[in-house]
Formats: sequence, structure tokens, C-alpha cells
Amino acid sequence: SPIVCTTVTEFQDVLAEKLSNAAEPTLGFIPTMGALHAGHQELFKTARANNAVVAISVFVNPLQFDRAEDFENYPRNLDADVAIAAEVGVDVIFAPELQEMYPDETPRISVRTGHMGEVLEGALRPGHFDGVGTVVNKLFNIVAAGAAEVRGVLPFTAYFGQKDAQQLAILSAMVEDFNLPVQIHPVPIVRDEGGLALSSRNQRLNEDQLIQARALNEGLELLAAEAAAGRPLDVAAAIDHITASVVSAPGDDVVDELVIVDADTFTPLTEEQRADPTSWPPRLLALLAAFVGPVRLIDNKILKG
Ligand code: PAJ
Repeated sequence: SPIVCTTVTEFQDVLAEKLSNAAEPTLGFIPTMGALHAGHQELFKTARANNAVVAISVFVNPLQFDRAEDFENYPRNLDADVAIAAEVGVDVIFAPELQEMYPDETPRISVRTGHMGEVLEGALRPGHFDGVGTVVNKLFNIVAAGAAEVRGVLPFTAYFGQKDAQQLAILSAMVEDFNLPVQIHPVPIVRDEGGLALSSRNQRLNEDQLIQARALNEGLELLAAEAAAGRPLDVAAAIDHITASVVSAPGDDVVDELVIVDADTFTPLTEEQRADPTSWPPRLLALLAAFVGPVRLIDNKILKG
């Protein structure tokens, strides 16, 4: 079973000890907010296959919630999380209390993610990506200082899911811009047998809604097929497919957002660019946010590159 640490110094000591006992000191780290499922487990497994020591964090980060209510209602169950982490051989869990991470409640200094954090999901949730950047920067430094006691560990590898594509792009940029001793390893989206991307939010859907929610992936698959064939991207048809499959109150939109972006810059393609395959950038990503019942789900698909 993993060793659970609640303080920074205890976590760093355990990391240093585990690494100094390893034949080849390599470290994989996965930040999470708990409510762990098979999507998280895929990150842990990937880290397990590539490193002598695997550490995760379980911390519900208040800075990244725009509504206090969402922060308070976020599912918390450390015992269940420890069991799920144990199944795939996680060595260490850092599960700090709020005061351990933010003794002043609001940190004096924070990360600003700029334009990349203000578009798309960031436009809807002001400050969200700054909150993510601030906590991940802190976690990376905590891990790096623990690891640094053992020669040859740095850079360590941090694993992130492609499920949160904008988060992954922003954190990759942060590592580059701040010269952090971290290598980012992206992990493909884990889906259930119906194609629905696994998410802690799926717990809030009933059986019917879980089936309706498959339409999100199906809509993205329509776009992927068009891209693979080098045909114009019909966003309206994808939206129609999703809207026709998901029950909503009259007048409510099912699809909140469906945009095709340049995967390297997160710049949305114009309608003309979508219609003209010769104008497409090297890497294309479709980003989707849709309401199924009361729950806003996100999904995405790499269309090219
Ligand atoms: P959380 O939502 O717990 O997700 C932790 C990691 O698991 C993220 O990298 C996310 O992309 C990945 N993940 C979740 N569902 C996945 C799925 N179906 N397939 C693949 N990967 C999946 O993301 C956060 O926490 C927080 O913002 C955090 C980075 C921990 C900062 O607080």
C-alpha cells in the first residue's frame, strides 16, 4: 500500500528515501484532486511502467474553483483514493491539508497564465488556469526539492491527461517558460465502453444521461472522420448530432462550445479555414463542452497531427 504523507517535509523525506534505494533513480509524479477513477489510473500505470518511484498528490485546490460551492461539493474520499492508487502500484501519496499548501489562505504570489488561460475554458472560468498554474508550480517545486537530494533524478516526469487539453498545453508552457526541472508526459483520454471520457463529473449522471453522453464522442468522431479524409469540417453537423441525442429543457443549448483549434497555439480556425483542408495547420484539435442534464462535460479529439 502507498505511504500517505500530509506534510511537505514528510513527503520530501519519503521521496528522497525511496529514490536513494532505487537502482536507477527515476521519478514519476501525477497531480490529482482525488475522486480517482480508471482515467487517473492510466496515468499512474504509465508512470509505473517508466519509473522506479511513482508519487501522486491528492489535493482539492480552492484557487481553481470559481464558485465556493463547487469547491465544497467536490467529492472527497481519501480511503477510496488510496485503494485505487494501491491497485496500480503507486508508492507515495501527498495529501496535504489546506493550511499546509496555503498558510495565508490566499497566496501572496501567483502564476499568471495570460492569453492561453483566458481563452476557451478560461473565458468561462476566469482565474481557473491561474489557480491550476499556481498549485502545480508549487507541487513541482515541492517534488523537485525532495528529488534533488538524490543525484541524477532531475528532471522528473509529470503525467497529465489529454482529457484536459488546455490545462496540458498551459502547464507545458509553464515548464518551458519557468525552466522547471520537469518533463511533461501526455496520456491519451481514457473512455468507457460507450466512448464517454471518464470524469469525476460522470458520477452526477443517471443511467439515461450516461448513454446520452456518448453522443459527445460520436460528434467528435464525425469531425475526426472528415479530417482523416481531408474533407471540410462540418461543425454544425457535429453539433446537430449531439443536440439530437441529448435531452435538454426547451430553449437550453446542449452544446456550449465546439471549436476547432490549432493544437499548438489554441487559436480557433475560422469557418473558411475549416472548409479548406489546404489551409489547416500541422496539428488540429476539436474542443467540446456540452451540458448533459445539469452537468457540463468536456471532451476533445486530436483531428490531425
Ligand atoms: P483531476 O481532475 O483530478 O485530474 C488529474 C489528471 O487526470 C489530469 O491530468 C487529467 O487530465 C487526468 N484525467 C482525468 N480524467 C481522465 C481521462 N478520462 N483520461 C485521461 N486522463 C484523465 O486536473 C486536475 O485534477 C487539476 O487541475 C490538477 C492538475 C491536479 C491541479 O489541481
